[in-house]
Amino acid sequence: MVRIRLRSYGVRNYINLNSTGRPLLHEHSIEVLKQNDFGGYTVPALGLYPFQWNWDAGFIAAGWAAFDVDRAWEEMETLFSGQWADGMIPSILFWKASDTYFPGPEIWGTKENPSNSTGITQPPIAGVIVRYLYDCTARTNRRLAQQKVSKLFPKILAYHRWWYKARDPLNTGLVAIIHPWESGMDNSPAWDEALHAFPVDDIPPYEREDLKHVNASMRPSKDTYDHYLTLLYRFKAANYDPEKLYWMSPFRMTDLCTNSVLFRANRDMRFLARMLGKKEEVREINTWLRKGKERFQWLWDMDSGLFKCENQLTGKLSSARISGAFLPLFAGVASQDQAAALASNLKLWIDEVKFGVPSADPAGPVFDPVKYWSGPLWININWMISSGLRHYGYNELAEKIEMDSLTVISESGLREYFNPRTGEGAGGESFSWTAALYLAWLDGEVL
Ligand code: GLC
Repeated sequence: MVRIRLRSYGVRNYINLNSTGRPLLHEHSIEVLKQNDFGGYTVPALGLYPFQWNWDAGFIAAGWAAFDVDRAWEEMETLFSGQWADGMIPSILFWKASDTYFPGPEIWGTKENPSNSTGITQPPIAGVIVRYLYDCTARTNRRLAQQKVSKLFPKILAYHRWWYKARDPLNTGLVAIIHPWESGMDNSPAWDEALHAFPVDDIPPYEREDLKHVNASMRPSKDTYDHYLTLLYRFKAANYDPEKLYWMSPFRMTDLCTNSVLFRANRDMRFLARMLGKKEEVREINTWLRKGKERFQWLWDMDSGLFKCENQLTGKLSSARISGAFLPLFAGVASQDQAAALASNLKLWIDEVKFGVPSADPAGPVFDPVKYWSGPLWININWMISSGLRHYGYNELAEKIEMDSLTVISESGLREYFNPRTGEGAGGESFSWTAALYLAWLDGEVL
């Protein structure tokens, strides 16, 4: 079998080639991005997710950058053209109508936005990606790279300011999510207790569209969905007023993924601010970084050697052991000792399955290898965890995760997520961020 060395890292990674000497799914991944391109934005998956999603757009742009960097910038520019006046970037921008998704624009009923959109957000990966695109572009055209960044920089900064103002009004240094969908890890076991601590309201009857595309055993349950919609209708009744939502939401969590991504985005934004000579902004970002770093220690659970999400309404750390626990490595906020504990936990998790990283501890009580964020392996999380491991010098473990990712993709195709025990694909097909990150790993910059 012909095999190739992974270009980005020059490490001992090898993947299968097709008869023309290209990695097996290289052309196909490009085709998938093109096929999911709706003109300036890329849908995550035809039918299942027919709009532009906030953090998907970031991962997808990294994939476009591997073969068409202009198109990569466009993805981010389109996303930011949907920014709300208060700075928020919604989780979904409903640019064009579609009847294959629920809850769509008519349910959300947001008013204030240039496009129709949801009234909640998602992990703010944009700052990380714009720095990434800067690196890709500056290699050949530094002036263009600076021009592109200078247009997006103020918008991303406004987004980060929104996070701190709307979601950390007590100025603790870490922000809250008020809906599981905001975490990007919709049915993570980290939300179970907090989500079921409040009763479901008398919500209008509804029909789920996701179950028409994907088997019910792989998706969140009806009861969980009722809770999601209860939150949605309460936020709608408050007119999505950011001053109110934080205080009124019966669900308020310090999410590891959101905070790690925001912290890392702040570091990348500081780099860009320095490059643009923006001293005031560097100072502002430094304050966020200082406070965030201190507060992250609050989420460290010494007994398990993992970071944990916090339920802000009870002040308790969630007992759930989820893959988000490793994302503080991506943020660069873990100490060396914490990184060592995380790395050894991660090895144990991977030993339990065949392919890392499972989204929940495979030895834990709620692990389910095909149920969405309660066990399956997700490529975007792997991309961030392996990058974090490399920054801390755990190269072999990073390599193992990269190799596992490329192997499950090569064997099962560009699926939404994968069974970590068998490598089988699940959820949506021709999934954009899987295609994109496959390309980024093969041909892109090092994250
Ligand atoms: C699901 C995922 C979320 C993703 C979205 C679109 O809701 O949980 O992370 O952004 O699908 O792919």
